[in-house]
Amino acid sequence: MEKTFLMVKPDGVQRNLVGDIVSRFEKKGFKLAGAKLMYISDELAKTHYGEHKERPFFGELVDFITSGPVFAMVWEGEEVIKTARDMMGATNPQEAATGTIRGDFGVTVGKNIIHGSDSLESAEREINLFFNSDDVLSYDKQD
Ligand code: CMP
Repeated sequence: MEKTFLMVKPDGVQRNLVGDIVSRFEKKGFKLAGAKLMYISDELAKTHYGEHKERPFFGELVDFITSGPVFAMVWEGEEVIKTARDMMGATNPQEAATGTIRGDFGVTVGKNIIHGSDSLESAEREINLFFNSDDVLSYDKQD
């Protein structure tokens, strides 16, 4: 079954949005396979966001994502990668539809509440970066 990596960013944790965000994915019907509250090291931030290293906002992005705890998660389900991104809304909250996480809670592109993998390859890479295989659980769950 398809898995994705989702992460409530420091702004979402600070603003007490973890419960609401987890609830949206639970109610949608996806299965939580792993979760942890953690600090991201400078090294992990630079690896995770490596594809953006030439962008002018890279330093700001690394500073922000390491500025406080994040809530890292693995979710499982049919088409979960694309559906989770639809539920998150556009990267820039000003362009994100109402009813999406960023559309409902975000204002600026830097502090956009949540990150989600954009492809099968990045989901696999990001899950492996943030989680030991023992911490991603397989269990039965009723629909
Ligand atoms: P995310 O989905 O985590 O992936 C890369 C992040 O870069 C993105 O969300 C935004 O938070 C951030 N980002 C994109 N554009 C900008 C920008 N112009 N200024 C600051 N951060 C940005």
